[in-house]
Amino acid sequence: MKTVSHHVLRLCRASFVFTLLFLLVGGTPPAVSHSGCLDRGESSGGAVRVLEGEAGWLSCPLFSHPSIYNFTSAQSAGHTLLWHRTPQGHGLQQPVPDSWRISRDEERLWLQPANGNDTGRYTCTLSNSSFCSRMSLRLRVLPPDRAVRSSACEPAVAVATQSISVPLQSDAVLDCPELQEAQRSAEEEEAQVTWSHLCGRTSFTLYREQKGGRLQIHVMLSSFEGLYFCRVQFRRTGRLLHFTRSLNVSAIYSEVSLLCRGSFPFINSSWEIWWTVDGKTLDQLAGQHRFSRADRQERYVHGDRWEDSVLRIHDFQPQDLNREYNCSVRNDRGFETRRVRLELEGEPL
Ligand SMILES: *[C@@H]1O[C@H](CO)[C@@H](O)[C@H](O)[C@H]1NC(C)=O
Ligand SMILES: *[C@@H]1O[C@H](CO)[C@@H](O)[C@H](O)[C@H]1NC(C)=O
Ligand SMILES: *[C@@H]1O[C@H](CO)[C@@H](O)[C@H](O)[C@H]1NC(C)=O
Ligand SMILES: *[C@@H]1O[C@H](CO)[C@@H](O)[C@H](O)[C@H]1NC(C)=O
Ligand SMILES: *[C@@H]1O[C@H](CO)[C@@H](O)[C@H](O)[C@H]1NC(C)=O
Ligand SMILES: *[C@@H]1O[C@H](CO)[C@@H](O)[C@H](O)[C@H]1NC(C)=O
Repeated sequence: MKTVSHHVLRLCRASFVFTLLFLLVGGTPPAVSHSGCLDRGESSGGAVRVLEGEAGWLSCPLFSHPSIYNFTSAQSAGHTLLWHRTPQGHGLQQPVPDSWRISRDEERLWLQPANGNDTGRYTCTLSNSSFCSRMSLRLRVLPPDRAVRSSACEPAVAVATQSISVPLQSDAVLDCPELQEAQRSAEEEEAQVTWSHLCGRTSFTLYREQKGGRLQIHVMLSSFEGLYFCRVQFRRTGRLLHFTRSLNVSAIYSEVSLLCRGSFPFINSSWEIWWTVDGKTLDQLAGQHRFSRADRQERYVHGDRWEDSVLRIHDFQPQDLNREYNCSVRNDRGFETRRVRLELEGEPL
């Protein structure tokens, strides 16, 4: 009995010391386990999802954002990092076995590849003889038939789709998410990336091209919208591994410029050139900062003048196609107005 109360007293003191530490560094209140290790709880980012049969990795949350420790410094200070796991279903924590299928790379644990039995809670413990701190994260290994797919011909992906917007007619480069993780840990040859779009029914010939691991879009067209999949293949500890990621590419309109040129013969009178949008001058449209105008003289010969006015529509939106853009000119002799009709540029069939 005496020993037990002693033990409890020691724990209370230790807890007080560590609570002070928590106040200094911020974060969730740590708890002290019976072994005297500071338990920082579970990483808040949600479970790491990996597709069964694909390569995956777990990064010790003590070193990830917001990081508490720096792996390089911890390593050079002689701290050791140990991994334990509590498999789903049976609640016993056990050391993660070293095997050909599970390997370590600095603060990461690699699943090469993941299998359904890897699902569970993983804890990494950083310690030396006088210090110990640990944190956990959850891993969920998804069978391919449980991954969300929008059509049956698409590859299964366990990780959330990244979205990117590309202005129409402009160029863009698509990078496969997390490719650098494979590149960082790949041995010998470089990681290989295979891109697909529309279930591989389209080839990357017209205006699109794969260069190294990246997919270049030279001219964005609306037919290039949709889901892209990249499959990364690499070799690690002698094993050929792969993982798949997805990108949702949307086309957006960018800037549209309309040029109006007015010719004013010399008649010794005042002159004017201006734009209206749906019958309103840009002053009247004040507050709609998407419209702006720049004027300049194009030519001036013995009193005859040619004046340019460029209407810029920033962040062009589909409804801007239906607006009425008029350029008007006026001098003492009269007034002229012309309407500009906008159409979507033709897409290759
Ligand atoms: C960790 O520390 C090393 C040297 O002490 C530094 O070069 C590195 O940038 C640090 N890493 C992070 C993620 O802060
Ligand atoms: C998962 O573990 C069970 C029991 O240890 C074993 O029978 C099964 O083959 C394992 N499944 C995989 C995919 O490794
Ligand atoms: C253990 O690590 C702590 C914190 O990094 C450090 O203050 C202490 O000196 C280390 N102890 C030994 C014996 O290396
Ligand atoms: C891709 O993004 C568009 C919006 O830009 C959205 O309507 C569509 O549902 C997304 N598709 C997928 C599969 O996420
Ligand atoms: C131009 O018009 C102004 C007044 O409108 C007049 O004073 C001036 O004499 C005119 N010049 C010529 C060259 O006609
Ligand atoms: C715009 O110009 C067209 C002629 O090109 C004209 O019929 C129309 O009335 C003009 N609209 C406005 C608001 O001035």
